[in-house]
Order: sequence, then structure tokens, then C-alpha cells
Amino acid sequence: MFQIVRKQVLSKGAIIRFDINAPRIAAKVKAGQFVIIRVNETGERIPLTVADKDAFSGTITIIFQVVGKTTALMRSLKEGDSLKDVVGPLGKPAEVENIGTVVMVGGGTGVAILHHVAKAFKEAGNFVIGIIGAKDKETMILDTEMSHICDELIITTDDGSYGERGFVTTPLQKYLDERYDVKLVYAIGPIIMMKNVCKLTKKYNVPTMVSLNPVMIDGTGMCGGCRVTVDNKTQFCCVDGPDFDGQLVDFDELEKRNNIYLKDEKDSLLNSIR
Ligand code: FAD
Ligand code: FES
Ligand code: MG
Repeated sequence: MFQIVRKQVLSKGAIIRFDINAPRIAAKVKAGQFVIIRVNETGERIPLTVADKDAFSGTITIIFQVVGKTTALMRSLKEGDSLKDVVGPLGKPAEVENIGTVVMVGGGTGVAILHHVAKAFKEAGNFVIGIIGAKDKETMILDTEMSHICDELIITTDDGSYGERGFVTTPLQKYLDERYDVKLVYAIGPIIMMKNVCKLTKKYNVPTMVSLNPVMIDGTGMCGGCRVTVDNKTQFCCVDGPDFDGQLVDFDELEKRNNIYLKDEKDSLLNSIR
């Protein structure tokens, strides 16, 4: 059993942070890796990225958005409660090197995933520019933490209630126009955001990594559920990723595959609250 030692509501009850006692994972996990969680004996398995770790206290941090049955069940848990299984670290760590100037672009809950990667790039000695976006001020997460990590940080909201009004691609384009030293862009967030970032960076010929979120079941490369197409080749996101060269990803296929079970997921949530 894996005890929740701290619970924090980051946004209107819909984005939650857990610090979980998992010393063996905390000792090994690297930025970009994830865990697969099962809340209880009969629960489904869901992947969540390790947003941070504290090897000293033996805890890992996960930050999740409540979107359906399992995440709603997780929201109901309290400090001191436990999760049945936490398996990991899974997936390949982000490739982090000292390359100069990097731009970290995050959207929505994607900022939770980006945050760990941005920290690793900063610790490796890079000049880190952060651009993070959300729907509104209420749903913006980890802006304070990102401001401590990044050398420069731009905040955007769709409604202009915090930072610049609009999408993350506008300040990104400005940076790409004004600075010729951007060596890498990392983009993590909704599929449409990652797709548009990659479309833009392709024009400027700037390498761009993305973190993909297909439906996963076993997380070990056995079931094929998480297959994605990158450079016209099939890849299993759980073992070959989750990070890939975004300019080679078939985002339209990913979006279609992620929506396959929408009706079942909705029914399953409704049945659980009836
Ligand atoms: P459901 O109603 O069952 O599903 C809602 C949507 O979530 C689905 O339409 C589908 O797009 C997605 N989803 C459902 N089941 C799965 C599954 N087994 N695997 C992957 N996606 C699924 N979310 C976060 O909020 N924070 C994170 O740090 C985070 N990290 C992730 C890392 C990876 C590698 C992947 C693949 C996904 C990550 N996700 C993260 C997404 C998270 O797994 C889903 O939001 C979660 O499974 C939804 O479960 P649910 O039962 O509450 O919702
Ligand atoms: Fe089964 Fe990746 S989740 S192969
Ligand atoms: Mg589910």
C-alpha cells in the first residue's frame, strides 16, 4: 500500500496534488517518467507522471486533473489514505543535456509534467524560458514553482484573467522571431496545443519534444494499447516514450484513438455516482 502523506487542492477541486510515500520509486525516478496507479483491488490502472520527487523523505508527487471515474475516486481520498498499487518508474526519462537556451511550453495540467523536465534542464545548466498557459487564472498551476525554475517566464490565459491573453503559441513565435539561440522547445499539454507548437517550430527548424498521453493499460509494452505513430512507424508510448520528436508525431491519429472509449468512460462515471 502507498500512503498519501499530503493532499493539496491546486484548482477548484479539479486539479489535485498528492505526495505519496514510495521510497523505492523516489530513489530512482527521473524527469519525464510516470507511474501506473490502481486505487483499489477492483480499480482500473491509470498512468500519471511523476511531477516531482523527494528521495530524502521517500515521496513522489503526482498532480492530476479530475476528468472521469478514477480521478474522481482519487479526489475523494484523504491524507493518510492509501493507494493499492503504484508501479514505476515507467517510460524513458527525458533526455536532458546542457545545450544552451531551451523553451519549455506547458498547457493546463501539462504544466505538472513540464515542471519536472524544466527543473532538470535548469539543473543541467541551460537558460530556461518558460511559457505556460491555462484557460483562466483559477486553472493555472505551478506558476510560482515555474517562476523559481525559469530564467524568464511568460504566462498566458485564454480569457486574459492572468498574464497575456491568448494561447502559448503567440509568445513562442515572438521568442523564435527575436532569439536565434533557441536550441530546443519542449511542449507538454493538450494534443491541439502540442500540434500547433510543432507546426510553428517546424517553420523555424527548431527541434521540439512532446510528451504523449495515449490510453495505457499495462505500461510495459505488452498490450499495444498505447501505440502511436511517429515518423510513420508504430511506437509503444509506454516503453518507447512518452517523449518523442513532436514534428514526426501523427497527432490526428492520437486524438482519434484517445476518444474511442469516451462513451464507456462517461457511462462508467455516471454508474459510479448513481
Ligand atoms: P476517464 O473518463 O476514464 O477518461 C478520460 C480521458 O482520459 C479519456 O478520454 C482518455 O483520453 C484518458 N484516459 C482514460 N483512461 C486512460 C488510461 N488508462 N491511460 C491514459 N489515458 C487514459 N493526467 C493528469 O492529470 N496528470 C498527469 O500527470 C498525467 N500524466 C499522464 C502520463 C501519461 C504517460 C499518460 C499516458 C497519461 C497521463 N495523464 C495524466 C492522463 C490520465 O492518465 C487520464 O486523465 C486518466 O487516466 C483519466 O482517468 P479517469 O478514469 O478519471 O477518466
Ligand atoms: Fe500496453 Fe503500452 S500500455 S503496450
Ligand atoms: Mg477511467
